[in-house]
Amino acid sequence: LARALTAPGLRARKGGEKIVCLTAYTTPMARMVDAACDVVLVGDSVGMVLHGLDSTVQVTMEMMILHGRAVRRGIRRALMVVDMPFGSYEASPERAFDNAARLMAETGCGAVKLEGGESIAPTIAFLVARGIPVMAHIGLTPQSVHGFGGYHVQGRGGTRFQLGRDAHAVQEAGAFAVVLEKVVEPVARQITGRLVIPTIGIGASPACDGQVLVLDDMLGLFADFQPKFVRRFAELGTQAEVAIAAYAQAVRDGSFPGPGHVFADTP
Ligand code: KIV
Ligand code: NA
Repeated sequence: LARALTAPGLRARKGGEKIVCLTAYTTPMARMVDAACDVVLVGDSVGMVLHGLDSTVQVTMEMMILHGRAVRRGIRRALMVVDMPFGSYEASPERAFDNAARLMAETGCGAVKLEGGESIAPTIAFLVARGIPVMAHIGLTPQSVHGFGGYHVQGRGGTRFQLGRDAHAVQEAGAFAVVLEKVVEPVARQITGRLVIPTIGIGASPACDGQVLVLDDMLGLFADFQPKFVRRFAELGTQAEVAIAAYAQAVRDGSFPGPGHVFADTP
């Protein structure tokens, strides 16, 4: 295998060395994430982060394939996981297989991720039985934003029992790992303790077996809003604004381009 990290390899990290995951949508960003992380996720968050959509519901297979192909060219070691977009896997296991197989064939990813628990578990089992490693995603599942009526924290009160059933259902279906998004900490911790597959947290718990963030969020590049669970490890958005304003001023005041940026007629 060209890549060092595989879905079974990551599954075996349960309870051991933390699984580090970030999103990437382009070749240069994938290269940087690959150098430091275990998993590069081509998230359908690309629709909001790079395309200005107001949810992930409008993201298409074509968008995931285009960004997946770009990301693949930047990866040497990490496991590449591509999100199945809304509408590509819910109708039937067969439809899901066709679309997952297309994502794998056209992007070269090593696994797909899809949203949902108990209700989508038969589809996960169908894909896994046919050679497609699946990362599950439960808790806050943004593709269901219209059904949830917002991006609310999950697992409060009685809903924690359904969350527990979802976690066990995706594990029994053969998912090699499960993302827990915006789940109350005690429930994320309990699920992590009970499952034999790794949990990857985002707004979940430090007890999770791994962590994922949207790259542009933690770099301070996507600042439309900042969820509580994001730590900004840089302020690249602010730096970019300052740089662009300085460029505009330099062009206007004639200080750029200067003598060092032009070509003489003889070498
Ligand atoms: O689309 C995405 O970026 C994701 C992660 C936040 C888990 O699904
Ligand atoms: Na996603």
